[in-house]
Amino acid sequence: MQDKPLVGILMGSDSDFEIMAEAGRALKSFGVPFEMTVSSAHRSPERTASYTRQARERGIKTLIIGAGAAAHLAGVVAAETTLPVIAVPIDSSALQGLDALLATVQMPAGIPVATMAIGKAGARNAGIFAVQLLASENVALQQKLEEFKKDLAAGVVKKAEALQARVAAEI
Ligand code: RP5
Repeated sequence: MQDKPLVGILMGSDSDFEIMAEAGRALKSFGVPFEMTVSSAHRSPERTASYTRQARERGIKTLIIGAGAAAHLAGVVAAETTLPVIAVPIDSSALQGLDALLATVQMPAGIPVATMAIGKAGARNAGIFAVQLLASENVALQQKLEEFKKDLAAGVVKKAEALQARVAAEI
């Protein structure tokens, strides 16, 4: 992306990319510039702290963090910044994301992390939620969000019509 990124997407491993790409796609669909990189709470704690401490002065407004297993990345990032932190628990372990969900959502009072659903739906919602945060100061984004909601509702009406046709044909 050419514009200065407003959202930083961080993931614990490149193996998280397929999930976290959904957050990037959501941001792209609203025209919000973002960056993506890998850093691990456990394997590269210094890189994680350094990225987080520099994020605000580099123009980042919100951070989206994806991690699986013993997912401490969002929490340690939230400890190092006053930027809003949105987290995506990733189903990359034998426990299928329940471990990451609990590790991410159970933050101690004082260090909030906005935790989304496990996996792709959570990553997509993380992108949309970041847009909603940015929209509080941006009328154009507010209008895009209104249109997005209208499209969602129109999609449901289409599905209901298609279902009605199936009811008539198949039952
Ligand atoms: C977590 O461990 C990562 O976020 C990833 O979901 C998981 C597995 O990482 P790799 O072993 O594939 O690098 O820290």
